[in-house]
Amino acid sequence: MLAIIGGSGLSQLSDLEATQRKVVRTPYGEPSGPLTYGKLRGSEIVFLARHGYGHTIPPHQVNYQANIWALKDAGVEAVVSVASVGGIRHDLGPGTLLVPEQIIDYTWGRRSTFFDGGDTPVTHIDFTRPYSDALRDRILRAARDCGEALLDGGVYAATQGPRLESAAEINRLERDGAEVVGMTGMPEAALAREVGLQYAAISVVANYAAGRAESTQAVPLERIEAVLDEAMRRVRRIIEALVES
Ligand code: HPA
Repeated sequence: MLAIIGGSGLSQLSDLEATQRKVVRTPYGEPSGPLTYGKLRGSEIVFLARHGYGHTIPPHQVNYQANIWALKDAGVEAVVSVASVGGIRHDLGPGTLLVPEQIIDYTWGRRSTFFDGGDTPVTHIDFTRPYSDALRDRILRAARDCGEALLDGGVYAATQGPRLESAAEINRLERDGAEVVGMTGMPEAALAREVGLQYAAISVVANYAAGRAESTQAVPLERIEAVLDEAMRRVRRIIEALVES
């Protein structure tokens, strides 16, 4: 079964025929909200709103452990994360959709592993390619099938938030090789890898990152909602094509 973790701008899947909403508990606490089971284009999927259904949980307070554990426990095999980002590369303007290929983690103080000592032996996961290649390919194929533009690749920088970055911080991220910046990609991707879930992301560029293009003086926050509304319509089409494939 496929799961979608929806971020800002995607707190529900409007075309999902919800069959069940399940409040679950995990050894790591409560997920961001109930798991919504339903059928999309005839296929059973699970949806979880990362920031809660009322969009009240900030990126640094999301219980990523509980979210990933709950999905694994529900029998999910693959997780598609949808998350908004700022575009650092000049051609990644608002409304661009991409499937990132690499991650740099700048977050701190988040519970970022299930292998946290105690009775579990020291365990290291391989994270050379942090996203599932098979799932990335499926998402890219789905976008081609439904004729939506979706870029293949990009280096995702995960920052702590909830504030946006300074222009100098974005310059530093760019020197590091980052091309988009968001606040929720980690530790989600690593936790998914730890429990053997396929995991890939659709990044939705909401704005140019601080100091870039129209964000030279300030990030125009008032424009983000309209950008995301339009872009998420395209993301929903891609997800529908994905579950049909
Ligand atoms: N920075 C970090 N996270 C984001 C941004 C940004 O500019 N836009 C959307 N999520």
